[in-house]
Amino acid sequence: MKPYILSIDQGTTSSRAILVDHNGKIIDIAQQEFEQHFPRSGWVEHDPMEIWSSQLAVITSVIAKSKIRSADIHAIGITNQRETTIVWDRQTGKPIYPAIVWQDRRTADYCDELKEKGLEEMVRDKTGLPIDSYFSATKIKWILDEVDGALDRAKAGELAFGTVDSWLVWNLTNGELHLTDFTNASRTMLFNIHSCEWDNELLELFGIPEAILPEVKSSSEVYGETSVDVLKTAIPIAGIAGDQQSALFGQLCIEKGMVKNTYGTGCFMLMNTGTEAIKSEHKLVTTIAWKIGDEVTYALEGSVFIAGAVVQWLRDGLGLIKKSKDVTALAKKVKNTDGVYIVPAFAGLGAPHWDARARGSVYGITRGTTDAHLARACLESIAFQTYDVLQAMQQDAGHAIEELRVDGGATSNSVLLQFQATLLGATVVRPENTETTAMGAAYLAGLATGFWKDIAEVQQKWSVDKRIEAENNIDSTAVLSDWHAAVEATKVWASL
Ligand code: G3P
Repeated sequence: MKPYILSIDQGTTSSRAILVDHNGKIIDIAQQEFEQHFPRSGWVEHDPMEIWSSQLAVITSVIAKSKIRSADIHAIGITNQRETTIVWDRQTGKPIYPAIVWQDRRTADYCDELKEKGLEEMVRDKTGLPIDSYFSATKIKWILDEVDGALDRAKAGELAFGTVDSWLVWNLTNGELHLTDFTNASRTMLFNIHSCEWDNELLELFGIPEAILPEVKSSSEVYGETSVDVLKTAIPIAGIAGDQQSALFGQLCIEKGMVKNTYGTGCFMLMNTGTEAIKSEHKLVTTIAWKIGDEVTYALEGSVFIAGAVVQWLRDGLGLIKKSKDVTALAKKVKNTDGVYIVPAFAGLGAPHWDARARGSVYGITRGTTDAHLARACLESIAFQTYDVLQAMQQDAGHAIEELRVDGGATSNSVLLQFQATLLGATVVRPENTETTAMGAAYLAGLATGFWKDIAEVQQKWSVDKRIEAENNIDSTAVLSDWHAAVEATKVWASL
């Protein structure tokens, strides 16, 4: 058996390649940021060619710097920013428009029209998703409507649509394969998560020709091999999952009821609900966690759009800190926020509010407010938003959650994790290996190719670094009541 699995993690702000050995240890990581384009207010785009070139660059770089050969790679697993929509020409492999990123709100008005027509229930019943510009369907429609001749070319089978996983597979195989997996398909708002097929009624509603869609495969199987023109060696591509589902798997939340929260650009909380697709009564999303073999596992998900990004705003927008990690020291300068609340609705509010028009707001500023209060309020806003999602999840699940597994960049922040545990009244658990997103894809690929025997073997690779217990030094009821008042005021302002 070859010694390594290569995990490809194509995220919203950077492309990464991670080499994992048989012990589940990370050998090396290469990472490259790429450009974010904001052509208009509320629009967010990526250059698909840059997504690919940065991804290829980090793959080549991780192989070079760890001094292995591509022939030492047993299999590749792919995980990716989800929903982001790319349409390309099958002949030339060139995109016909930039990638419309999941955060992009350009189709918010159209989504409102659909809701006014009373279509929300039908869409939710089939896809598990609320009608929102977050998901791919309205982004695909926008490209087909706005790019000259695109709709006709799509009907003629000349164009291909894909989320980022499909785009990477297409390029890794030199245009040989056009496919996606169940998890990514379940984020398009075109995939029926119960019958597990593209839904004709939805395709008709959005005017999307079936000919542009990728084939949908399980999350753990050999789909094909990389082209020798691309990586010099034919390496099996054997696992695909959207990044949040991959993190759920990487956190080994493989039993029903287990929950993880990833603190990245946004915050994404997922609960494994087993083989049951629970319909949320509290505005969460029902999604596919993975399909392995013949079994589909479902999850409830709450997405918070702005989490770590609020710290980037402190750094880049306000210039209050030089590096993101400096936020901890700044926040520690004060014991509390002195009544300052920040609702970081920079891209609208996600779960459980789904208010596309909400914009960020700051409340409670006095002459005594300092940069430290703002820094602390930013960190607390991440925890508050997570609290709201967890509450919704507990209500849907019908039981309390005692343990939250956490990962992502912001989990190195002790102020945030302690405040989070106290607010939730639950134990927050950080694993030794917090690269859970990359590990999930590695495990999926390794399981499909016999690199690891079974899930029980993979389970032994997960271990705890730190358990953070709730403290009782905060009046949670009072701060939560203030937070909720701030959120409501933000929504009211957006509706004026
Ligand atoms: O749904 C969007 C999500 O997949 C993006 O994740 O980590 O790239 O911000 P991330």
